[in-house]
Amino acid sequence: MTSHTLRAPTRLLFGPGPSPVHPRVYEAMREPIVGHLDPFFFEVNQEIARLLRTCYGTANEFTMVISGTGSAGMEAAVANFVEPGAKTAIFANGYFSDRLAEMAGRHGAEVVRFEKPWGEVYSDEEAREFILRERPAVVAFVQAETSTGAYQRPHAIGATAREVGAISIMDCVTSLGGMPVDVDAAGIDVAYSGTQKALGCPPGLAPITVSPRGVEWLRQRKTKPVSWYLDLKLLLDYYESAHRYHHTAPISMFYALREALAVIEEEGLEARWDRHKRNHELFVAGLAEIGVEMLVAPAHRLWTLNTPKVPEGVNDLEVRKTLMARHSIEIAGGFGPLAGKVFRIGTMGYGSTEENVRLLLAALKEALGR
Ligand SMILES: Cc1ncc(COP(=O)(O)O)c(C=O)c1O
Repeated sequence: MTSHTLRAPTRLLFGPGPSPVHPRVYEAMREPIVGHLDPFFFEVNQEIARLLRTCYGTANEFTMVISGTGSAGMEAAVANFVEPGAKTAIFANGYFSDRLAEMAGRHGAEVVRFEKPWGEVYSDEEAREFILRERPAVVAFVQAETSTGAYQRPHAIGATAREVGAISIMDCVTSLGGMPVDVDAAGIDVAYSGTQKALGCPPGLAPITVSPRGVEWLRQRKTKPVSWYLDLKLLLDYYESAHRYHHTAPISMFYALREALAVIEEEGLEARWDRHKRNHELFVAGLAEIGVEMLVAPAHRLWTLNTPKVPEGVNDLEVRKTLMARHSIEIAGGFGPLAGKVFRIGTMGYGSTEENVRLLLAALKEALGR
């Protein structure tokens, strides 16, 4: 065992995340850490909350960060808003909506599912009809389904959930910072994300935002959430009002997120969305030129994560191994019903550039022998 300074290889991260990290974010992580009760830390937090509100498209006062990855954001949403016995309606069209259903079940929910084949999404009418029929206490769905590359419009879901008095939960892990999220415009009560996708930051934190209606619901909740660590009321006491110790926040990751969000503000959120859309479209056009088709219909594709179909007779694992061996390029394969059928290729955050798209296309063309 050698004990010299650690050196990690430089990979080209074009998988479903983590995505490439902006150099300014790496630099921010080298800043000296302060204590988790230091006023400077809370100032950084305030700034993070302000910048996150813009990305989420919300005025929600309750916008904070969970110390944990995207799944911690998901579990915080479920643990706080799904009470034992609560009927929870899940739009089940991919791996991460299955995870939402699994978590809700573990928290004691009565789960009802609206199944769709992976890669498809729900029309406004279908969403509305499901919620009106089930009249659930909670509705949960994934806006940007990383297992399929499909984007779910949130507006009809949010509006109908409010109509029946349900709390709506939206997973924005692969949309935040790369595509419109529209929390307020869609009337969503709880939205969470992760740092390692279109925000251009390492994995490790889960930004979450809760509507005033959601906060009021929480205030009235009689039972305590089973999870102590993810109890949003306790977290509020730490980050906001009393600054009472709750856990030792990972300070360097908060610096990283602050810097990633500052980079987004400087670029301009709409300019950033345009960049993601442009590079996604360039990639899709280049794939078409080499005869590779996409899984998802054009109107429902994510700009952050592309799912080209694996061409007939091609072994996806061999292609992925070749890309890694020859170019240090990481992409991912499909899983579940899409195993062996699609590639999952990220064009997100700092990684979404024209130069990267051209590099990816050239490497893929070579690996596919086209
Ligand atoms: C849509 C979606 N939700 C939740 C998660 C879970 O996030 P994490 O892996 O950071 O825990 C992911 C991770 O890829 C995701 O893509």
